[in-house]
Amino acid sequence: MCGIIGYSGYREASAILVESLKKLEYRGYDSAGIAVADGDIKVEKKRGYVSSLRGNLEGHTGIGHTRWATHGEPSDKNSHPFTGCTGEFAIVHNGIIENYMRLKEELTEKGHRYESDTDSEAIVHILEDEYKSSGDFKKAFLNTIKKLEGSFAIVAIHRGEDRIFGVKKESPLIAGMGDGENFLGSDIPAFLSYTNRVVIMEDGDVCELTPESLTFYDFEGKKKEKKGEYVNWTPESAEKSGYEHFMLKEIFEQPIAMESTIHSLFSADTDFPYYGRITIVACGTSYNAGMAGKYLIEKILGIPVDIYYASEYRLRPEVRERSLVVFITQSGETADTLTAAKIARKRGYKTVGITNVLGSSITHYVDNVIYTSAGPEIGVAATKTFTAQLASLYYMGLSMGEEYGILPQMKFEEFIEGFRRIPRLIEKALDYEENIKKIAHKISDEENMFYLGRGLNYPIAMEGALKMKEISYIHAEAYPAGELKHGPLALVRKGIPVVAIVTKDETYDKMISNLREVSARKAMVIAISSEREVDNYVDYRIPVPQNGSLFSPFANTVAVQLLAYHTAKLRGCAIDKPRNLAKSVTVE
Ligand code: AGP
Ligand code: GLU
Repeated sequence: MCGIIGYSGYREASAILVESLKKLEYRGYDSAGIAVADGDIKVEKKRGYVSSLRGNLEGHTGIGHTRWATHGEPSDKNSHPFTGCTGEFAIVHNGIIENYMRLKEELTEKGHRYESDTDSEAIVHILEDEYKSSGDFKKAFLNTIKKLEGSFAIVAIHRGEDRIFGVKKESPLIAGMGDGENFLGSDIPAFLSYTNRVVIMEDGDVCELTPESLTFYDFEGKKKEKKGEYVNWTPESAEKSGYEHFMLKEIFEQPIAMESTIHSLFSADTDFPYYGRITIVACGTSYNAGMAGKYLIEKILGIPVDIYYASEYRLRPEVRERSLVVFITQSGETADTLTAAKIARKRGYKTVGITNVLGSSITHYVDNVIYTSAGPEIGVAATKTFTAQLASLYYMGLSMGEEYGILPQMKFEEFIEGFRRIPRLIEKALDYEENIKKIAHKISDEENMFYLGRGLNYPIAMEGALKMKEISYIHAEAYPAGELKHGPLALVRKGIPVVAIVTKDETYDKMISNLREVSARKAMVIAISSEREVDNYVDYRIPVPQNGSLFSPFANTVAVQLLAYHTAKLRGCAIDKPRNLAKSVTVE
């Protein structure tokens, strides 16, 4: 994935482009570049972070890009924008042009000279050829995009024009409507400092943007009516607000994110069709949320829930079952999850999508959408969207239970009560930051560790290990605690950190036995537990309040997030931009 931005208006474009790219940098940071169109096209681009751009090209119409490389290594020459042979156009691209090899052969045969190894560069060369024959930017743009296969959001400018053309097909693009200025961006925070009035583009939409107007077409150039809407995000919500990293800010935003998610879940009051079976499909952190959803729904509703990694689901043969398929994706743009959703739709399954991003691609591929209202999440490591996804799955269990009469009334009221207390529970867990910081000092020099949990908290152990790997680069593995003795125990040696989530429920006694097993091998055992008794078996304890078993995953999540954050910080890691990763992965 990449971040792209386009601006045309009365201000100097460069400064706006650079500012917007900084907000989009979570989407990729292999290289950054901008181009402006007034007079001749001028370009500044290089490998590395957006902050290395000077951003002083003069002009009022321009485009920008921050890259997460898919074709061609991260380097100066592979940075976007591309200007082709004549230098009269500049383009930026997010996605993959699947027929790029064939296009490159054709174009080089015709005499075009490539400057990069990317798939994206084909676009600008085609645009040049199409312009040569039509002499019109709009016609040339439409003809160009028809020749492209794959996924793309593209923004293009032409020398001497204040018009920008953009297109969206399976990669995100959103238009922002200002006063005497307009924007195109990969997400809303990219231009949120200037306007909160947006037009969500859909696949197949083409946008012609000038400082005064936004006009939408289909690929054939037929006009499309599209309505603008106001979003209630504030620019501050997309800034760091004094926190050292977005990740920490987003961890601390969880009580509010939870309040607004719970509020929007109750107001949306979505109906869930009852099939007696649920299949959950997701990747990464969203998968871990799905796993917790599986344990929860099976526990409270007694209906079977299967869970698949999206990249595996797509390979699954068609099976004879009637199941509601739930796709969880924070960004709504993860290619593996989108492909899986398309397959489920083709097979005629009833589908639900859980996402944090309004109008994101997943919303077009499912029958029902549940929005988590966690606000924009910029840190590459998902935090507040994870707890918001958990809350949505709890809500789904709750409303299915109520609607289909499979949750006894007593239990229902108890559940609602606990559900409404989640923000407060998270708030209390956040108070243990200092305690967790001290423990981070004990593990920050280690290279391997384990996370253990059972039942509903095993997925939280999985999430803890993923967070630790992702941002601190410590190799961390999560196991259901009972499984350790079937192999991995061989790796447990003196001093190895083992984080164990211990809650007072039906898993408690067995967890204590497992703690003894690892302590006997002289591991450094860190328990996340509100039970004092646990002190007898462990080296350290993070005593977050767990409030019984059902809602304990919310408090335990806060503990594992903060532990990963502070460990990564001590190790001097690039917390918001971990190596090799990007916020959403738009390739399979
Ligand atoms: C989370 O910390 C990771 N960055 C990653 O595993 C992420 O959860 C995964 O790529 C799925 O993203 P999505 O929720 O946007 O689909
Ligand atoms: N395929 C383009 C490149 O490698 C864009 C990558 C993306 O959007 O992820 O430069």
